[in-house]
Amino acid sequence: MTTPFTTTQTGTPVTSDQYSLTVGPDGPTVLHDRYLVEKLASFNRERVPERNPHAKGGGAFGEFEVTEDVSRYTSAAVFQPGAKAETVLRFSSVAGEQGSPDTWRDVRGFALRFYTTEGNLDVVGNNTPVFFLRDAMKFPDFIHSQKRLGASGLRDADMQWDFWTLSPESAHQVTYLMGDRGLSKSWRHLNGYGSHTYQWINAAGERFWVQYHFISQQGVEHMSPADAERIAGEDADYYRRDLYEAIERGEHPSWDVKVQVMPYEDAKTYRFNPFDMTKVWPHADYPLIKVGTFTLNRNPRNFFAEIEQAAFSPGNQVPGTDISPDKMLMARVFAYNDAHRHRIGANFNQLPVNQPHAAPVSNYMHQGPMAYHFNGPEHPVYTPNSFGGPAADPALASEGSWETDGELLRSAYTLHSEDDDFGQAGTLYREVFDDAARARFLETLTGQGRAITIAEIRERFFQYWTNVDAELGAKLRTEVAAA
Ligand code: HEM
Repeated sequence: MTTPFTTTQTGTPVTSDQYSLTVGPDGPTVLHDRYLVEKLASFNRERVPERNPHAKGGGAFGEFEVTEDVSRYTSAAVFQPGAKAETVLRFSSVAGEQGSPDTWRDVRGFALRFYTTEGNLDVVGNNTPVFFLRDAMKFPDFIHSQKRLGASGLRDADMQWDFWTLSPESAHQVTYLMGDRGLSKSWRHLNGYGSHTYQWINAAGERFWVQYHFISQQGVEHMSPADAERIAGEDADYYRRDLYEAIERGEHPSWDVKVQVMPYEDAKTYRFNPFDMTKVWPHADYPLIKVGTFTLNRNPRNFFAEIEQAAFSPGNQVPGTDISPDKMLMARVFAYNDAHRHRIGANFNQLPVNQPHAAPVSNYMHQGPMAYHFNGPEHPVYTPNSFGGPAADPALASEGSWETDGELLRSAYTLHSEDDDFGQAGTLYREVFDDAARARFLETLTGQGRAITIAEIRERFFQYWTNVDAELGAKLRTEVAAA
């Protein structure tokens, strides 16, 4: 409720919005000006820490509708024929801080939530189907290398290429990043990908491995490096503005939801390890199957409350969907909610954007800082109990699973027949990029190579790209030297 007059945080009308309480017009300000003190204290606490990666972003709400029948693969209510669900989608850049220009070259985050009748389902992905790493142990180092040097606080090409060239598993994703997808025309013109392998479980309990693809109905378009650089200076919030204004104009962007489905047993012998997220599953092996479409049709009413405080987690799964033995994904299931407890607070899931919108919450967790929801007096505070409190119902839960056996150890994934670090990157460069895209790629990499100042790292840079494609490596040596 709002009033035409100003009040304190406890609802008392205030005497002035303009003047502090002072002893005479020119005298000292008194500490008992409660409204002044409250206003300054509130201002000091307006910010929550920014997300560590993916700090700069924007988003909107929408509607998802299932148009096909994929019930043979999953029992999830949200994916049953004709089902509809509210969604929220946050786009982001990875490396830059809150105020950084949207059009700096980067991978774009694509964090999508379905508010389903069985709880929130989040797919927290990017605009690329793969990632730089395959083991979570390296994630903080990777993000450090993309952010800023300790001493100068500057971003640094030597640091980025040092990490990448010492981490050959990054080659496939770096090929995407240095290609057109690193400079999207707008958030509306990019595809989203779950990037990991997830699991679906059908009503009979059969398991499948799936990869999510969100295909833009606006098309996938990029911008030139020259435009990106100009726009970075002219309008740091270019993508955020584009999305917001398009939705205000009634131009509601849509994405088709598709999946690749791998029968459970195939994973054991497939030519690529399907849990290694540096790899794609070629569509010839596992074609895209359409599920439905979602449309973003509503801007946030308040950016801070609904987008800045949105707290996604790849661990938010529903009955009929689950994670897989991807080592990155298993660690992310921990990392996100831990980040939210730090960034927003212990009860982050009680905020309007994070609480389920289409499912009840019922358990024995309670209290903590800023607790907003509470159980009624009839609700016991422990389980098991004799007073009719909620009890887990395994028949409703439909949790995923997989067999696992072996000694605890620290190692790389088991290699499947065609696994290597550079093969799929080479295929992307030679078979997916066309001549014009390859020319732009060479130009971008030439600029990157020239920015490297340490000879040893530059030599590894040439070797890295030679491993992706020998001819590309040779061209780069010539072009970078021609500076
Ligand atoms: C954000 C950790 C891998 C996509 C974040 C945040 C953390 C994090 C701590 C900030 C969360 C917040 O404060 O709200 C990790 C770790 C990873 C990992 C530990 C690997 C082990 C990935 C991968 C993807 C990804 C593989 C994409 C396929 C995103 C996106 C966001 C994000 C889109 C922004 C979410 C939003 O819009 O709120 N990540 N991440 N991350 N991450 Fe990751």
